[in-house]
Amino acid sequence: MKAIYNHIILTGLIGLLTVNVVLAQSEAPVQTQKSANAKITNLAPTPPMGWNSWNTFQTRIDEKLLRDMVDTFVSSGMRDAGYKYFTLDDGWMSMERDQNGQLVADPKKFPSGMKAFADYVHSKGLKFGIYNCAGDKTCAGYPGTRGHEYEDARLYASWGVDLLKYDWCNTDSLNAREAYITMARALQATGRPVLFSLCEWGNHQPWLWANGVGEMYRATGDITANFDKDKHMGTWTALSVLTIVDKQPAIRQYNGPNHWNDPDMLEVGNGMSFAEDKAHFSLWCMLAAPLIAGNDLRKMSEQTKNILTNKAVIAIDQDALGVAAYRNSSENGLETWVKPLSDGGWAVCFLNRSDKAQDITYNWAKNPLQDSFSRRTADFTGAVYRLHDVWAKKDVGTTRGLFKTSIPARDVVLLLLTQK
Ligand code: GLA
Repeated sequence: MKAIYNHIILTGLIGLLTVNVVLAQSEAPVQTQKSANAKITNLAPTPPMGWNSWNTFQTRIDEKLLRDMVDTFVSSGMRDAGYKYFTLDDGWMSMERDQNGQLVADPKKFPSGMKAFADYVHSKGLKFGIYNCAGDKTCAGYPGTRGHEYEDARLYASWGVDLLKYDWCNTDSLNAREAYITMARALQATGRPVLFSLCEWGNHQPWLWANGVGEMYRATGDITANFDKDKHMGTWTALSVLTIVDKQPAIRQYNGPNHWNDPDMLEVGNGMSFAEDKAHFSLWCMLAAPLIAGNDLRKMSEQTKNILTNKAVIAIDQDALGVAAYRNSSENGLETWVKPLSDGGWAVCFLNRSDKAQDITYNWAKNPLQDSFSRRTADFTGAVYRLHDVWAKKDVGTTRGLFKTSIPARDVVLLLLTQK
């Protein structure tokens, strides 16, 4: 694995060196066949939702485990809460292509073959996602797609793949924008609608060029299940929830329907405290981020389930306006994040990053909301909004009064403002 991540660092450096070139390229609008074909566009009008095997299982996946996971995806209520894509990350392949150059699902891990597994996923009313990489090898060393774009796309389409996550390891001097456009075209050529999830960690500023190439693009490095401490892995660094969050305000204007900034998969249920998990989930929803769970669904606690399947919080993420929250204020570890909603309302998230509870007395009249990006404003001296505490599931007055509450350490209070 060490060698693998040396490549990540290397590609990261190449990314930095090519930033100027990418910026110059980004001035021209990207014309892809994908955006020209109305039939296959609009695959993600709201942020995609699903589950992915990587955060918990890495390459330790097999058919038996994953069928159990599919069953639990349904029985736990995840499907009914809106999660749709069931995605196998790295590690599903044999170490070599076959004599015809075709990828092969590892016969030990998938004795029934990948088509049978895809059929099983579809039989449960879910969509099927798979992973590969733009380089010669995937990050875990399995055969990459470089030079095989069209044949791999055809193979995925024959299996019934609905989502492709496409990584960026072992890419040497490949041009990211070109490599992702090539794969988008290969998918397009199959005639099957395949949601395209770009995963080059934000190295080449995909927010500037990936709109029209894919429906979502990773904007940062890999997440780790820690609220505020990055984890140094030797040659690379896994990022904490708050490190990723802090990178979002700068790119929020690039987020929107069918082109979502991806702050990486969820770590809810993977070891953080209940409060931290709740804050993590709330922030992803405020950011209008793809919600891709990454926990072991079979062992999900009631608390984890209550977070991941909370329909009111998910509705904030899935709001049709598709605008990511902005950070309205930040003082002593206490932040206010604000997201305009399609019904004229707002979601307001008070985030306490600190290690101690903080009391707030929020004066709406003195804090009008103003979002130059969505051109939405709320002046509370005029209009009155009802306040609903989404996690507590109770109404808490109106914007005419002061909002007083205590926010526990590393937690949030999430309010929905609806105009009266
Ligand atoms: C990269 C990606 C991860 C995961 C692994 C698989 O690190 O960013 O999300 O797909 O590769 O090897």
